[in-house]
Amino acid sequence: MVKVLIVKNYEELSLETALRIAEAVRSKPDIVLGLATGGTPLGCYRELIRMHREEGLSFSKVTTFNLDEYVGLPPSHPQSYHYYMFHNLFDHVDVRRENVHIPDGMAEDLDEECRRYEEAIKEAGGIDLQLLGIGRNGHIGFNEPGSPFDSRTRVVKLSEQTRKDNARFFNSIDEVPTHAITMGIGTIMEARRIILIASGEAKAEAIAKAVKGPKTVDVPASALQDHPDCLFIIDKEAASLL
Ligand code: GLP
Repeated sequence: MVKVLIVKNYEELSLETALRIAEAVRSKPDIVLGLATGGTPLGCYRELIRMHREEGLSFSKVTTFNLDEYVGLPPSHPQSYHYYMFHNLFDHVDVRRENVHIPDGMAEDLDEECRRYEEAIKEAGGIDLQLLGIGRNGHIGFNEPGSPFDSRTRVVKLSEQTRKDNARFFNSIDEVPTHAITMGIGTIMEARRIILIASGEAKAEAIAKAVKGPKTVDVPASALQDHPDCLFIIDKEAASLL
């Protein structure tokens, strides 16, 4: 069963999430963090940067693995998840470049890149704390509905809804990549601890299905019901159908 913490608003969601990540980093400075992109984690990352600047929170021994990356966008592309992570977090804290891992969506051999990524997670000792967002269709990472619960890091085709949802960040939907590399649901489930964050009414249905619906590949986040240490931190709007 997932635990659920319902908070007032996005500010509080960001704070509660950052506090938990900071506490985990302080108690294990060489922690392996799994990180997410999208609009939802931005407030949490801003708060972590503030804690780094004002409270001495250090990421100097931290290793990070991002969930996913678009296929075909170079790291310099403003909508690539590489760009997002450096711009919104890594450039502002003391994480070491060599400890940062994001799938390479430009790799010549994408399948080999996926294998390499899985291997790197294993070599780092596995993920201690994984941060997740959720798509309106219940996707986690880029594991769209239909993704097997035992799936590993792989190349996936993005659903039309996800491409539409993410088109707001691009000039037009035609520019949204059609494929991505994502950690699999099986990969995500191996993280020792998971925090999923969601804000706003648009996520309410996905949250309700993930928390109390049947476990089904139609709702990828419902796999988390079987995780031994998974907390959803969600605002009132995202919790409105619970
Ligand atoms: C993208 C990412 C997901 C993220 C989701 C929700 O598709 N691949 O990891 O959780 O969007 O994003 P947002 O937080 O912007 O709603």
